[in-house]
Amino acid sequence: MKQDELFALLRRRGYLWPSAEIYGGVQGLYDYGPLGAELKRRIEESWRAWFVGLSEDYYWIDPAEIVPEAVVRASGHLENFTDPEVTCGQCHRAFRADTVLESSRPEGVDGLGATQIGELLAAAKARCPNCGSTDLSVPRPFNMMFPLTMGVGDGERAYLRPETAQSSYLAFARMWEVGRKALPLGIAVVGRAYRNEIAPRQVLFRMRAFTQAELQIFFDPASFPVPLASVADLALPVVRAARRESGDDHVVRTTVASLVADGGIPEFYAYHLAHTYRFFRDVLGVPGDRIRLWEKSDTERAFYNRIQFDVEVDLPSLGGFKEIGAVHYRGDYDLGRHAAGSKKDLTVAKPDGTGRLLPHVLELTFGPDRALWMLADVGLAVEGERTVWKLPGHLAPATVGVFPLIRKAHAAFAQSLARQLVLDGIRVDLDTAGTIGKRYARADEAGTPYCVTVDGTTVDPASAEPGTVTLRERDSKTQRRVRADELGPILRGVQQPPRPEPVPVSPTAPESG
Ligand code: GLY
Repeated sequence: MKQDELFALLRRRGYLWPSAEIYGGVQGLYDYGPLGAELKRRIEESWRAWFVGLSEDYYWIDPAEIVPEAVVRASGHLENFTDPEVTCGQCHRAFRADTVLESSRPEGVDGLGATQIGELLAAAKARCPNCGSTDLSVPRPFNMMFPLTMGVGDGERAYLRPETAQSSYLAFARMWEVGRKALPLGIAVVGRAYRNEIAPRQVLFRMRAFTQAELQIFFDPASFPVPLASVADLALPVVRAARRESGDDHVVRTTVASLVADGGIPEFYAYHLAHTYRFFRDVLGVPGDRIRLWEKSDTERAFYNRIQFDVEVDLPSLGGFKEIGAVHYRGDYDLGRHAAGSKKDLTVAKPDGTGRLLPHVLELTFGPDRALWMLADVGLAVEGERTVWKLPGHLAPATVGVFPLIRKAHAAFAQSLARQLVLDGIRVDLDTAGTIGKRYARADEAGTPYCVTVDGTTVDPASAEPGTVTLRERDSKTQRRVRADELGPILRGVQQPPRPEPVPVSPTAPESG
């Protein structure tokens, strides 16, 4: 489906819509309706189960979204978190420089300075995307954070956090104190981040308020043991930066073992990259051939990164591969900056007693909003008369639709069955409206993996199979009769998200003090 068709479907079904829609909507802000909110929550839950489940030493916290100015000054966001902005002298609209240069330079302008971007604009004889004028300003850095004033009067300057990662860095010292005082220590946050995008676009892909799921793993670079053997043979679809620079941007399937042995990637990084790939393939159900791990070069990487592979998924609705997550080796940049900014010692004692160290950070970052769109692009299919969303069962907003065949005769049984299933922890959509065909169609479009129909056989004690219902499977459309009291265990299994094998990262020994 095209972007507009996909958005129209999601809006019509009440998954999401532009925020403040009755006032014309706000660019880059969206509200999620019942199906969208539930699906997004399922995505976040499965992320948490998978990544926090990688180690007993990875924890989930829920910190504040507003950070004092000192935090973003120390982190570098006040100085560096900018996009190059170009303004049209005729229509006075502002654009990101990469939007203006889209046709002549599709790879974007990451890592280029204002002078270089200005030269590119001149060489391309760039025109305003709105009015076509060539009267464009020189590029200027535009800071993307939302400032706030906290308190009365002049108050205190603060910001909506531009990434959830900062909340984990701020929590490190306290988490060290309240925890086992051992590395590695993982701190995960799932929450909103805010960016004042110059030109929000592609619906959930460039938003002004969006959710991030990020795990920051603090570790000793001299000792971060991981059970690499468990993923050594997994072939990852990588595009290395060096190869790209020589003009070849094809995916090369490379085992985790050879990424480490021949590719110069540290074991701890390759292990977590492998589990990130597995999350997309095994948990979110994205076909492996639609995923690529795109390495960013020295000039393209975010300012804090030493190694960066973006997880990109091929999304025809948005014209090709799009970034949904990434694995960032941020070195000791973050704790170093916050130690300087806060004047607190954020070093910890080495377990072997040979001194102190400033932990390094490995960041696993993921965008649940983008993932929701990705699931729609990957899973929605038009099959003859029906539109069906082949969502993995554990992500579906409802696991089962419960339909009384004839409202008058079968609704009481259906209602009591639905109540019982909800008590059993099953996500149920009780639908009594319209023909059974229309109800199947609604359930298929919403990705509901099973539908149950209560009919005459169910409610008639004299029938051949009283107490049985038809259970219809979404993808195959096959139906079978099952006892209503057997539904709970069948459907509970469908709701279980995959989890990583229990091979916890073995931590270095806890320190004594
Ligand atoms: N924390 C990484 C990012 O916001 O891209």
